[in-house]
Amino acid sequence: MASYIVFSTLLLFFFNPSSTFAQQSFRPKALVVPVSKDASTLQYTTRISQRTPLVPINLVLDLGGQYLWVDCEQNYVSSTYRPARCHSAQCSLAKATGCGDCFSSPKPGCNNNTCGLTPGNTVTHTATGGELASDVVSVQSTTGSNPGPNVTVSQFLFACAPTFLLQGLAAGVSGMAGLGRTRISLPSQFASAFSFDRTFAICLSSSTRTDINGVVFFGDGPYVFLPRNVDVSQSLIYTRLYINPVSTASAFSQGDPSSEYFIQVNAINVNEKPVAINTTLLSIDGEGVGGTKISTVNPYTVLEASIFKAVTEMFISEAKARNITQTGATGPFEVCFSTENVLSTRVGPSVPSIDFVFQNNSTFWRVFGANSMVQVNDNVLCLGIVNGGENPRTSIVIGGLQLEDNLLQFDLAKSRLGFSSSLLFTQTTCANFNFTSIN
Ligand SMILES: *[C@@H]1O[C@H](CO)[C@@H](O)[C@H](O)[C@H]1NC(C)=O
Ligand SMILES: *[C@@H]1O[C@H](CO)[C@@H](O)[C@H](O)[C@H]1NC(C)=O
Ligand SMILES: *[C@@H]1O[C@H](CO)[C@@H](O)[C@H](O)[C@H]1NC(C)=O
Ligand SMILES: *[C@@H]1O[C@H](CO)[C@@H](O)[C@H](O)[C@H]1NC(C)=O
Ligand SMILES: *[C@@H]1O[C@H](CO)[C@@H](O)[C@H](O)[C@H]1NC(C)=O
Ligand SMILES: *[C@@H]1O[C@H](CO)[C@@H](O)[C@H](O)[C@H]1NC(C)=O
Ligand SMILES: *[C@@H]1O[C@H](CO)[C@@H](O)[C@H](O)[C@H]1NC(C)=O
Repeated sequence: MASYIVFSTLLLFFFNPSSTFAQQSFRPKALVVPVSKDASTLQYTTRISQRTPLVPINLVLDLGGQYLWVDCEQNYVSSTYRPARCHSAQCSLAKATGCGDCFSSPKPGCNNNTCGLTPGNTVTHTATGGELASDVVSVQSTTGSNPGPNVTVSQFLFACAPTFLLQGLAAGVSGMAGLGRTRISLPSQFASAFSFDRTFAICLSSSTRTDINGVVFFGDGPYVFLPRNVDVSQSLIYTRLYINPVSTASAFSQGDPSSEYFIQVNAINVNEKPVAINTTLLSIDGEGVGGTKISTVNPYTVLEASIFKAVTEMFISEAKARNITQTGATGPFEVCFSTENVLSTRVGPSVPSIDFVFQNNSTFWRVFGANSMVQVNDNVLCLGIVNGGENPRTSIVIGGLQLEDNLLQFDLAKSRLGFSSSLLFTQTTCANFNFTSIN
């Protein structure tokens, strides 16, 4: 922590000898960006403005991603683009140790005497080399209930990537926005630019309509949602965040920890009954294998094969006790049911609940039908959890469907995750942030 403060001071000194890092007359307490869900890829995308003049850019939201990376090969025009010079403070902050030249005419992504990173597409697990650079980034501030004035970070660090790295991402995006545990992820750079808490919150909407958005807040609450202006930050349940000591990125240096967010699930209950699972799989071992992480790039929760089998067997038998009949597998889903005898509730189809149990039996995240089931057609509902096979790197990956309409706060200073459980209970959703700006 001490070294972090020293570093921020150095950065201010080197990058902003005359003015401040952020060009505003007021200091925002928090920032807000919209998040939509792409109907064809099920990826969550966000939008920020970058460059001079500012252009809105769409990015796939990657909770555990290391930093912002952007396609610089196509349509990158900006008078404020600055490559990071070898051995600069920017390179060390980004842990970009290499030093490279580019044998072509100079342009964004191709400059001599620059340090480079290895931006990765975490959907397709592809990575490639790319120049570290900075440019202007603009986002909206917030008091927690509406967007306020736009604020600007003049030298926001990111990696330049070639166009091919976009393959497999939603149409219209030009990169990925990494919110992970690094010094140059979006939450870290915003927190240091505006001196607010190293805390952020995500609230993903289940809707794929382009006019319906979830939200990411950078900074501490309040996090207020319509229609009754509930501040969701007041009713969170907390569990510790863990660091996986071995990187889970496609390309990394020996000794790098993972930038992803891990939590300790100690048990899984179905309909409040404990599922028998091999507890060795629930901890991260010395090689960084095992444990539980949260991911926005996996559309559905992925369970290691033996955990998948135990959870689904219990789920099927508990469903049967409610006269819900199993049908054949559909698409990626192995466990499907007839919709007959499935009642509707405020929190989705009435099916057995699934609990992820944390530090004690009274601290759990309960997953209801809205977050466990996928309606594949009028007659069939499937369990939206997929089989991760044997020996996966991480035993439990809690994915998009299970995160929707739940607010999750990642507090890096306190190293804890706050979760709201389904907002549908409090008669709101993640799409209920009031995006009407007040300036
Ligand atoms: C980098 O330097 C080399 C050798 O001096 C030169 O050929 C090349 O054009 C330069 N590239 C850029 C992008 O300036
Ligand atoms: C502030 O940013 C939003 C979204 O990034 C944009 O739509 C709006 O035009 C900006 N407002 C001003 C005053 O620049
Ligand atoms: C539990 O999982 C560990 C790690 O995969 C494995 O080594 C062990 O054999 C498993 N135990 C049982 C009883 O299956
Ligand atoms: C299930 O169906 C059986 C036979 O139709 C009926 O007796 C029983 O009450 C039903 N159970 C529930 C939980 O609906
Ligand atoms: C469970 O853990 C929470 C949070 O760590 C703590 O506040 C609570 O007192 C614990 N409950 C029991 C029954 O131990
Ligand atoms: C939690 O519940 C499980 C299953 O009901 C039980 O075996 C275990 O002892 C409980 N743990 C604590 C700490 O109470
Ligand atoms: C959203 O915020 C604006 C600005 O404060 C306000 O005028 C409007 O009534 C709010 N919308 C709702 C549905 O409350």
